Amino acid sequence: MLLRRINRAARRLPFSLLLITATPFIIEAVIHIWRYQVPRPATELDAPFSTSCQEPDVAAERENAVIVMLARNNERQQAKKTIQSIEAQFNKWFNYPIMFLNDDAWNPRFVAELNETAGGKGIFEVIPKEHWTYPDWIDQDAAKNSIKQQGEAGAPHAGQEGYHHMCRFYSGKFYQLDVLKKYKWYWRVEPDVDFTCAITYDPFVQMAKRKKVYGFTIALWEVGKSCPGLFRATADWKESRGVVTSNLWSAMMEASWMPFPFRRFLSWVPHRDSYGDAWSLCHYWSNFEIADMDFFRSKAYQDYFDYLDKKGGFYNERWGDAAVHSLAIAMLADSQQVHHFEDIGYRHDTFYQCPVNAPGGQLPNSPSLAENKPWTPEEAGGIGCRCKCTGKEKLRNYGTYCLDKLKQPNTPKRGWFS
Ligand SMILES: *[C@@H]1O[C@H](CO)[C@@H](O)[C@H](O)[C@H]1NC(C)=O
Repeated sequence: MLLRRINRAARRLPFSLLLITATPFIIEAVIHIWRYQVPRPATELDAPFSTSCQEPDVAAERENAVIVMLARNNERQQAKKTIQSIEAQFNKWFNYPIMFLNDDAWNPRFVAELNETAGGKGIFEVIPKEHWTYPDWIDQDAAKNSIKQQGEAGAPHAGQEGYHHMCRFYSGKFYQLDVLKKYKWYWRVEPDVDFTCAITYDPFVQMAKRKKVYGFTIALWEVGKSCPGLFRATADWKESRGVVTSNLWSAMMEASWMPFPFRRFLSWVPHRDSYGDAWSLCHYWSNFEIADMDFFRSKAYQDYFDYLDKKGGFYNERWGDAAVHSLAIAMLADSQQVHHFEDIGYRHDTFYQCPVNAPGGQLPNSPSLAENKPWTPEEAGGIGCRCKCTGKEKLRNYGTYCLDKLKQPNTPKRGWFS
């Protein structure tokens, strides 16, 4: 009897001991995760600029802005497609200049045809060589070798040398171009893009009025193997410069459940900071951007870019400008300075956003909108203006997980999962 009781107590002992020992670690982990929770506001802090069609106010004052496209001579058809689309849906009313950038000399046929498509508002510039090449401190043979290996390992575009120059250019050098100095705002477009709704107001004016610095349409996951070292370099820069953690930064993170002190060992894993917490890989898709160049020209941003550039990751890995811009916004901007253009229909590659049309908001008799016909049906809750969402481009946004994460600091709780 006694023996059996001792036996039973002995069997129970290790478990209670384990529990007593583990409790502080579990509590610490819970507190740690809790510290990364981002409160949702009571009201929407980033409402759409427009929730129906408007009569384009062609007499209104414009902002100091430019539409920019990086293109190659052999992308003439794809470039035309984008420019036809943005002209028809927006720029025929607002007449912003459209600047085309090339790392090579322009072909006269491209210039003539695209200037015509752009309604005579085309500006054609060549990027100075020093903005589109390896920096001095990069060992070019090693970099070329690495690019070859990255291509073989299959990260998208990572085997193309020009793509690496492009990512570096858009990450930092773009904002140093002399030809852009006189502008404050830019709208970035790419060859082969469709704008699927009419944009009947001036997004630059609205951005300025509401003190926004960065506007996007699509948020999604970065391809992890293209940039294993980017997040660690970013987090190290953030820490070394004493940048205060914002809600947007926390929303981009996935805090580790690993208890202290073991969490620190995770810092050796890609996409983690020196404490072992991870970046979710969520970012804004930068091939559509409407943004304030002064943000990216700021000392803080250029210091961040230089820091990344010195690390060599634009070549030894394939750090993308989308992730770089997004991480910088999360560090250096307030979440309320970021705008989601959920009313803009946009497609590039296989990714798209296409809003539902606003009920009763289509101005069917407007003469200025006469050409922007027909449109897909109106539905309750829609905010689109004459959106044409057909086939698989039908309605809604891509990658709701990242979109929800990045909008979290500005969006009140809705439904069960958001
Ligand atoms: C584009 O067309 C406009 C109007 O025809 C013309 O004034 C301008 O010089 C052209 N620009 C270029 C770069 O050809």
